[in-house]
Amino acid sequence: MMGAQNLQLQPSTNALAPSTKNFEGLITPFLQPTKFNRLRLTSAISRIRSTRRQSLCAVISQKVDDVRVSLRRHDEKLNGKRLAVFVSGGGSNFKALHAATLNGLILGDVVVLVTNKEDCGGATYAKENDIPVVLFPRTKESSPSELVTTLRKFNVDFILLAGFLKLIPVELVQQFPKRILNIHPSLLPAFGGKGYFGMKVHKAVIASGARYSGPTIHFVDEEYDTGRILAQRVVPVCAFDTPENLAARVLQEEHQLYVEVVAALCEDRIIWRDDGVPLIQSKEDPQHYS
Ligand code: GRF
Repeated sequence: MMGAQNLQLQPSTNALAPSTKNFEGLITPFLQPTKFNRLRLTSAISRIRSTRRQSLCAVISQKVDDVRVSLRRHDEKLNGKRLAVFVSGGGSNFKALHAATLNGLILGDVVVLVTNKEDCGGATYAKENDIPVVLFPRTKESSPSELVTTLRKFNVDFILLAGFLKLIPVELVQQFPKRILNIHPSLLPAFGGKGYFGMKVHKAVIASGARYSGPTIHFVDEEYDTGRILAQRVVPVCAFDTPENLAARVLQEEHQLYVEVVAALCEDRIIWRDDGVPLIQSKEDPQHYS
């Protein structure tokens, strides 16, 4: 089409009026081999050829770039970490983490979901996304070593608790030292510990008159919410907040913070200060720790 527009061929002097309205009949007189037409035609063809060559080169180099990017992603994925996520509820943090593994923000894969509630939102989402679901505890007699064996079978590098309401068995903590994270919806060490979960946390924050709250991500030890703090985000508590309003504000920050922290974890950007406090090394400025 572009070639035809650019040709602007002159009608040849001996052109006969076309006897039919057929396209070929109309165009043929313009293609009579006069010297002038031939020159225009040759230059138009070489223009078309060079344009085609250029666009072909552009297409090929784009394809090569695409292949390079997907090979790099593939390599990164191969070296990526294998994550187990533990949930008991809706699993919005789990969904945020999973999405980040898919879009490349986190160099890792969720290889298994562990839950104590087989029909919770998180478990349903996992099944819909072909992530294996493991029920724990399966029975009253279920032993922690059963869970350790299962996680080993999945070659799990890190365990991420995201609203898992059971205490993590000591054996698991010992088998995965510095490899289990939890997210809690208050600024620990305030409003943490046994009994502080869900809306109870936000109710207690509001009742205390605290003006700030926010999520904490910490390593898991043998107790509830006492492991080393790794990251926090501050959100304001507003004058007439309900626990639900505050929970929603904190949850929004949780999703971002958990993704950032797990990205750092999977890129080996966590370092341990001499006194045992974990720090996150900045990706943009490796001299900077937070
Ligand atoms: C979050 O508030 C988290 O801090 C706490 O449990 C809640 C889980 O929410 N540990 P979701 O299931 O991820 O939506």
